Amino acid sequence: MANNVIFEDAPAKVNLALHVTGQRDDGYHLLESLVVFTQYGDRIAGQISDKDSLSITGPFANEMNTCAADDNLIIKARNALANFALSKGITVSPVSLTCEKNLPLASGLGGGSADAAATLRLLKKLWQLNITDADLIATALKLGADIPMCLQSTPLIAKGIGDEIEEVSGLPQFSLVIANPLVEVSTPEIFSKLKSKSNPHFDHAEIPNNLDAFVALLARYRNDLQSPAIETAPKIAQCLDALSSAEPLFHRMSGSGASCFAIFEDLTSAQNACDSIKQQNPDWFVTATPLKGS
Ligand code: C5P
Repeated sequence: MANNVIFEDAPAKVNLALHVTGQRDDGYHLLESLVVFTQYGDRIAGQISDKDSLSITGPFANEMNTCAADDNLIIKARNALANFALSKGITVSPVSLTCEKNLPLASGLGGGSADAAATLRLLKKLWQLNITDADLIATALKLGADIPMCLQSTPLIAKGIGDEIEEVSGLPQFSLVIANPLVEVSTPEIFSKLKSKSNPHFDHAEIPNNLDAFVALLARYRNDLQSPAIETAPKIAQCLDALSSAEPLFHRMSGSGASCFAIFEDLTSAQNACDSIKQQNPDWFVTATPLKGS
């Protein structure tokens, strides 16, 4: 067991809707967000070793390698969990970690948060830590507001600053195209450009399990960060236009951008749309993916 490699998926997070409903005294914004996770994502591998290390592979490895080690959420997650274990009198072994970086950075898909969450799940198993879910979630939240939801990685509604999570079951089946014009967007900058910090709340009682009704619900909802993100990065509008031209059931920006998503009934129609958008925009990141778990 000791030297076996363990793998953990780090699925992309897609905010199907994101309402900003207020702001706390510490500057963090209060949100309501309907979130799903996709089969497409990063992948973390880990193995007990004689010293700590992290290597990065995959299409976005170069971009990630330029980040300072101190800013790397995988290293932060490893150190946070090792320190938590130490606080309980447990000294953990060094680990060799590898991240296959398939998600663009700073892209509204929660890639860094997904990597940190996958690292926590992986190291809990690798170190055989007897840590409660509540302690793991608290460790995750100290690393970033989106990391608890990425720990869960199932359809959910997030409230608070993103840390109050309600599972959503019975979502209809669909596939997504995700497109990003490869402009990095700073989340704090987009939040700071919001014209109103206090916007209408979600108004539903239940999430419909019929796709048409579900899409009609999404159309009533918003991503309040979309307008300030387009102001900062006008290419996001082009990206939304390209998705719209593929005639999806629905399309919108995810998170603070610049990634945008489009909903299709099945993977074949999503893949066809993806191929044509990619052909017309060879410099963009475009992928078609089912939801995780479908
Ligand atoms: O928590 P995380 O590091 O992912 O957040 C990045 C930045 O996004 C925060 O420093 C904050 O400026 C902004 N943010 C916010 N309200 C949230 C989540 C993030 O203002 N609920």
